[in-house]
Amino acid sequence: MRQNSVKNLTRRSVLAGAGALTAATTLPVCAPAQTMPRKHRVPFGAALEYQHFLEDSDYTALFVEHCDMIFPMNALKWEALQYNQGEFDYLQAEGIIGFAEHLDRATYGHTFVWYTALPDWVQSITSARQAKKVLINHIHNVAGHFAGSVPAWDVVNEVIAHDPRDKGEWRDSVWMRTLGLSHIDIAFAAAAEAAPNAELAINDYDLGSVGPRCQARREAMLTLVRRLQDRGQRIDSIGMQGHLDPDFPIDQEGLARFIRELQSLGVGYRITELDVNDWKLPSDRYVRDEFSADMVDQFLDAAFSTALPLSLSTWGLSDRYTWLSEVMPHRKGAKNRPLPFDENLQPKPMFDVIQRYLAV
Ligand code: XIL
Repeated sequence: MRQNSVKNLTRRSVLAGAGALTAATTLPVCAPAQTMPRKHRVPFGAALEYQHFLEDSDYTALFVEHCDMIFPMNALKWEALQYNQGEFDYLQAEGIIGFAEHLDRATYGHTFVWYTALPDWVQSITSARQAKKVLINHIHNVAGHFAGSVPAWDVVNEVIAHDPRDKGEWRDSVWMRTLGLSHIDIAFAAAAEAAPNAELAINDYDLGSVGPRCQARREAMLTLVRRLQDRGQRIDSIGMQGHLDPDFPIDQEGLARFIRELQSLGVGYRITELDVNDWKLPSDRYVRDEFSADMVDQFLDAAFSTALPLSLSTWGLSDRYTWLSEVMPHRKGAKNRPLPFDENLQPKPMFDVIQRYLAV
C-alpha cells in the first residue's frame, strides 16, 4: 500500500549510496584537509535529498567537504514518515541523520507541521478531536524517535499567509481548518514533551524583503512568537527562509529591525533554505551569478551585522539538484542556478560571499 516518495530505488542505487557513504566516511583518512569544513563562526549546512544522497556520491561528498550541518530535505516531512496512518518509516531520515552523526556533523529537523506534503488520510481530517490526536501522536513519535540526535526542529513551517493583508494572516491548511491557531500551541507542547532538549523553531519565508506584504509577514511572525510566549510555551528560534526573489529586493532596515525585535523577545534566528530564484533573470550565467551573489550579500549583510544567526543553510548545495527547476524553471529555458555550487559542483560567486560571512 505504501508509496515510497523516492521513486525507482533499485538495488543498484542503494549500493551506489552505500558507495557514497563509504567514500565519504573513509575520506578523512586519505585527505583530512578536505573532509572537515574549515572553522566557521556560524555553522554552515545544507539540505540533502535522500535519493541524491544514495545515488550521487560526488554530490554527497560536496556536503562532506563543506557542511557543518547536514539534514534531510524531505525525509522528515509527514508524507515521508507516516504515509499510512500509524506506520512510521524512518529509513530515509535515519539514513541522512545517521550519515551526519557518523561524520560528527550537526543536523536539523524539518518539519512537523506544514500545510502540504501530507498524505490523503491527513488532508481529509475534518474533526478537531481527530486532528489533535494525530498531530500529537505524529510529533511524539518522530521527535521521540530522534530525541538526542536531532538538536533543533522546525515545529511549524509556513503558517503565515503569503499576503497576510489579503484574506487573513494565516495560511489555509487542514490544521488551521480543524484547530485554528491552537494547532501551533499543540505542536509546540508535543515537541517540547517528546524532545525536551531540542531547540524549537517556527520557519517561514519572505521575512527579509521590501514592501508592505513582507512587513505584514514579519508582524505576523512576531504575533506568533508572542502568542506562544504568552501561553508559557518555549519558542527558541525563527527559521528565516532565504528563498530570495529578485522581484522582492532585500529590506535591510526591516530585516535588522525584525532581528532586534526577536532578540528583545529572547528568540534567536537561523537562516534556512537559502537559494535565489533566478527564473526571471537574464540567461547569461555570469550576469545571473553576479546578481544572485549580490542579493545574498545584501541579505547576509543585514542579518549578520545585526546579530549572528544560529546557523546558515542552503536548500540543496549545487545547481545539479534544485526544487526551483521543477516549480519555477528558468523562463528562457536555461538551467536554474540558485545555489552556491554549479551543476559541475564548482563554487560560484555566491559561495565566495557565503564564505566571507562564515570566516572567523
Ligand atoms: C521542497 C523540496 O525541496 C522539494 O523537493 C519538494 O518536492 C517540495 O518541498 N519551503 C520549504 C521546503 O519549507 O520544505 C520546500 O522544499 C521548499 C519551500
